[in-house]
Amino acid sequence: MDKSFKAFVVNKSDENFSAEVRIMSTDDLPAGDVLIKVHYSSVNFKDGLASIPNGKIVRSYPFIPGIDLAGVVAHSTDPRFKVGDEVIATSYEIGVSHFGGFSEYARIPGDWIVPLPVGLTLKDAMIFGTAGLTAALSVDALENRGLTPESGKVLVTGATGGVGSIAVAILAKRGYHVVASTGKQTEHEFLKNLGAKEILSREEITGEKIKPLDQQLWAAAIDPVGGNTLAAILSKLQYGGSVAVSGLTGGTDLPTTVFPFILRGVSLLGIDSVYCPMETRLKVWNRMATDMNPAEKLELIKREISFPDLNKSLSEILQGQSRGRNVVVF
Ligand SMILES: NC(=O)c1ccc[n+]([C@@H]2O[C@H](COP(=O)([O-])OP(=O)(O)OC[C@H]3O[C@@H](n4cnc5c(N)ncnc54)[C@H](OP(=O)(O)O)[C@@H]3O)[C@@H](O)[C@H]2O)c1
Repeated sequence: MDKSFKAFVVNKSDENFSAEVRIMSTDDLPAGDVLIKVHYSSVNFKDGLASIPNGKIVRSYPFIPGIDLAGVVAHSTDPRFKVGDEVIATSYEIGVSHFGGFSEYARIPGDWIVPLPVGLTLKDAMIFGTAGLTAALSVDALENRGLTPESGKVLVTGATGGVGSIAVAILAKRGYHVVASTGKQTEHEFLKNLGAKEILSREEITGEKIKPLDQQLWAAAIDPVGGNTLAAILSKLQYGGSVAVSGLTGGTDLPTTVFPFILRGVSLLGIDSVYCPMETRLKVWNRMATDMNPAEKLELIKREISFPDLNKSLSEILQGQSRGRNVVVF
C-alpha cells in the first residue's frame, strides 16, 4: 500500500537546518509491523530538542519527530493488532531514531504499541502522552512506597508544565493535598482549577541557600525540574519521604549531601517513561483510564494545535513557556 500524507520533517545538512511540513509516502516509513493512521500527537520537551539543530535527540536526517502518537490501525502483520484497532505508541525509539508522531501515518513495531484502554479516547491519550505517563508513573512509584493522602502534603514542581500539570490533576483527584510550585505568576488560577491547594514560587522552594537539612514540609514530591530544586526538596522532605524525579528543566547537577538519606530515610525514585517495561506501561495506562483519570480536568490542561502551529509550540516548550499539554490534531 503506497499512500501519500503530510508530515513535519526536520532536516540538517552542513550549515542548513529546516523544520517544515512535507508530503511523504508510506514507502518512506521505517520497518514495523503496524501501520497507524495517526489521529493525534502531542508536544513534549524532547520534541522541542528534536526540532532544533543541536538538540542532540535526532540520530539521522531527514527525520519526523514526535515521541507520542495515538490513532487507528490501518494495516498490521502483528496478530495482536487488527485494522480498526485504536492504539497508543509513546517513546522507545519513536521520534528519536524511528520516524515519529508528527505525521498523518506512522509504522511502529508491535512491541511498542499499547491498546487504547477502555475509558480513554484517542484525544485523552494524547492529552496525557509521555508527560502524562511520566506523571502517572511518578504517582504510582510514590504509592508503591506507601504514600497515601494521610501521609501529608505532596509537592509538584514545574507545575504548569506537561508532567507537572497532569501530576497536580491526578494527585488532586486521588485526594492528596497538593502544593504546586510554579515560575508563572499568571497561572495560579489554572493550578487551583486543577486542584492545587497551595501555590509556591520557584524561589520559595530553593530559598536563599539550600541547607543539607531543613524544615520537614512535604511527605512526597514529583519533580520534573531537577537541579537546585531537587536538592532543596531532598532537604525539606518529611522523615521517610520520597521524591519521584523525572526531568531536568532546572539543570542536571544535583548539589546535595547524604544527610537527607541517612538521617531522614528519604528516597530518591528515578522515573523513566522511555524504556518503562510494557507490563508496567499497560498497568499504568489502565490506571490513567480509571483511578488516575482526572477526567474533565484534561480539558483544562489541553490546547489543540495543528501542523502550522508546531514550530511555535516547540519553541515555547524549550523556553519553559508552555502551559499544560499541546495536542496535535491531524
Ligand atoms: N523521565 C522521563 O521519562 C521523562 C518524560 C517526560 C518528560 N521528562 C522531562 O521532564 C521535564 C519536564 O517535561 P515537560 O513535558 O513537563 O516540560 P514542560 O511542559 O516544558 O514543563 C516544564 C516546566 O518546568 C518549569 N521550568 C522551566 N524552566 C525552569 C527552570 N529553569 N527552573 C525551574 N523550573 C523550570 C516550568 O514550569 P513552571 O513555570 O510552572 O515553574 C515549565 O513549564 C523535561 O526535562 C523532560 O525532558 C522526562
